[in-house]
Amino acid sequence: MYNGNIIIGQSGGPTAVINASLAGVYSAAKQAGAAKVYGMRYGIEGLLKGSVLDLDEVLKTPEDVTLLRRTPSSFLGSCRYRLPNLETGKKTYELLFQQFEKLNITACFYIGGNDSMDTIHKLHLYGESIGSPIRFIGVPKSIDNDLPGTDHTPGFGSAAKYIAALTKEIICDATVYDMKSVTVIEVMGRDAGWLTGATALCRGADCDGPDFIYLPELAFDLESFLTKLEAKMKTKKSLVVTVSEGIRTAQGGYVCEMGGDEKRHDVFGHTMLCGTAQFLAEVIGRRLSCKTRGIELNTPQRCAAHLLSACDESEAFAAGEAAFHAAEKGLTGEMAAFRRTGDAPYGCEIVTVPVGAVANAEQCVPRSYINEAGDDVTEAFIAYARPLIAGEVAPIIRDGVPAVLKRR
Ligand code: F6P
Repeated sequence: MYNGNIIIGQSGGPTAVINASLAGVYSAAKQAGAAKVYGMRYGIEGLLKGSVLDLDEVLKTPEDVTLLRRTPSSFLGSCRYRLPNLETGKKTYELLFQQFEKLNITACFYIGGNDSMDTIHKLHLYGESIGSPIRFIGVPKSIDNDLPGTDHTPGFGSAAKYIAALTKEIICDATVYDMKSVTVIEVMGRDAGWLTGATALCRGADCDGPDFIYLPELAFDLESFLTKLEAKMKTKKSLVVTVSEGIRTAQGGYVCEMGGDEKRHDVFGHTMLCGTAQFLAEVIGRRLSCKTRGIELNTPQRCAAHLLSACDESEAFAAGEAAFHAAEKGLTGEMAAFRRTGDAPYGCEIVTVPVGAVANAEQCVPRSYINEAGDDVTEAFIAYARPLIAGEVAPIIRDGVPAVLKRR
């Protein structure tokens, strides 16, 4: 019988399967006999205000848990909040540990990306410094797939599947007219191009895929890009290009800033990116005198739960379960992580890695996954990414649209 209560938070940008991880921690804890499973409303920021939810009040039946697994975007609410340094922010930690004590928390789980792992790492360090028995465990999540220490992150597979499917559909549409045109598709991923590379997954017998793919790992040169487009247009009229929102010039400036718009920053100091496709479409239109369209995939790519990857959804759930079992075993300061055992047949085992090695670090697409010209991905990328988009999870349809668990 598990001793005490647990608390779970979700943080950072949402994904289509982040709630499957929440369901995973919840289900494993309930099975182990945890009395109460609390959720932080709006992550650690919410907990600081004492805002928590008793998950039993919203998950009353097994069907509710199933629906939670199919519901996109952080059910508990999210935040982008950086905990202060341990030395200067003692008051914040005292407040948080008072909340833990009040709720009789014996383990705390945080589902998030590299910035969120900073939170769980700091909580672990503070807990250790005061001799607290509370365990702190991270559950990986990111559509960007940019966490070190793990083969991939839950959320990436479903976003990649949706993006690949949509790219194929856009290519069908973009090539209908017998006229010169360039369609630029902008994909999320600030520093890591995993998702943009995933647009290549639409290639097959029925689709040639994008003509060019640009990831943020390599510097983007506008002039050579335009020259390539012009040359390609001599043999093919309608071109489709996919670019990461975070592509930068050799000087380090974001391409989306080249239009002159001033961008805003989030609390982590990250530039809030958008407008790359629109900017490029305008430049291409002017320079190549052809029809252009800029398509920013935007929010749908991280909340499209109607086309989940079954691999991703089940792994997200399993990561949640594994995180609970790690805490149950007495581990703390760790993150559940995937270790690949093979590509074909695909296999992964779940291990744990020290969360300190994941916090604030980034895992970008290796050079060997990008072609020599820097305008496409390689077969090695495809072999890596293809298994992660495998399988479908049928949505539960109500009144003609997928049902979700309503956030309260
Ligand atoms: O969490 C990752 C991410 O989805 C990035 O790909 C994107 O740049 C960013 O979040 C968007 O942030 P926000 O949630 O503030 O819109």
